[in-house]
Amino acid sequence: MRHLQLTPDGRLRHLITLEGLPEALLQRIFTLADSFLEVSARAVKKVPLLRGKSVFNLFFENSTRTRTTFEIAAARLSADVINLNIATSSTAKGESLLDTIDNLCAMMADMFVIRHAASGAPVLIAQHLAQRGIEHVSVLNAGDGRHAHPTQGLLDAYTIRHYKRDFERLSIAIIGDVLHSRVARSEIAALTTLGVPDLRVAGPKTLLPKELTSMGVLVTHDLDEALEGVDVVMMLRLQNERMRGSFISSTAEYHECWGLTPQRLKRAKPDAIVMHPGPINRGVEIASSVADGHHSVILPQVTFGIAIRMAVFALLADRAVDTPANAA
Ligand code: CP
Repeated sequence: MRHLQLTPDGRLRHLITLEGLPEALLQRIFTLADSFLEVSARAVKKVPLLRGKSVFNLFFENSTRTRTTFEIAAARLSADVINLNIATSSTAKGESLLDTIDNLCAMMADMFVIRHAASGAPVLIAQHLAQRGIEHVSVLNAGDGRHAHPTQGLLDAYTIRHYKRDFERLSIAIIGDVLHSRVARSEIAALTTLGVPDLRVAGPKTLLPKELTSMGVLVTHDLDEALEGVDVVMMLRLQNERMRGSFISSTAEYHECWGLTPQRLKRAKPDAIVMHPGPINRGVEIASSVADGHHSVILPQVTFGIAIRMAVFALLADRAVDTPANAA
């Protein structure tokens, strides 16, 4: 994957996954995002970094946060943004994904933002572009199947950096349906790379994948143990749309055993923050009073997503002037 995502001198070519990206590159994205915060919040006007570039949003799966914040980020950077309506596109007539990509390249696309139910769809597109010798077009993975959601992992880490500063002192718990979660995989990749020393992952046995044990995290099936003394609680959505079979007996029982309630949250540090990538299932993985309570930073996560996506666009658009990442 490294040769696909990074140029030989360590610059970002595509963003498919956070796995294998060097810490220096993640920190570079955060520093760039810092510089875009005022633009993302409309405190200052647009910047022209992507003027003349065409960004194609291709969302083959539903989205509210990711699609909209990618669109806002591209617009703040002065790009031309094209949102292909997949439901009314020729995909519905059977046109293949790669034929669609070829046709959009013929319309002078510069960047594709891809969300797809199939794990590996963005990799397939990046490989296809490479085989055709199309080097100036970048692919940004906006979530593929269970595989990865790299900009979500980045914006989550950026949110933690905003509220807690030093990754190397933190205890963080990721809780819920990890098995079906591309977000959890990207969060784990980011937080281990950034040096979080105590990263706990908790959920029912049916919803934790076996490969977690090799990912440098502490795995537990005890919610209270996961929450004890943590600085950050990252809740995950119960992803019913990706479940094939029965993983839980009922959502009521899931809430009873795994839902984050005010009572359970008392086990975390008094100043702990509560995060969730959204969309939230109120009363299932998280009680409304916690989602809307003073520990919650769920909506700031969404806002930080604009600056993070601006930073990723800027790096991809301007490889020539970017400081090369320390490609260790
Ligand atoms: N967090 C996230 O990916 O949300 P959307 O599905 O609304 O984009």
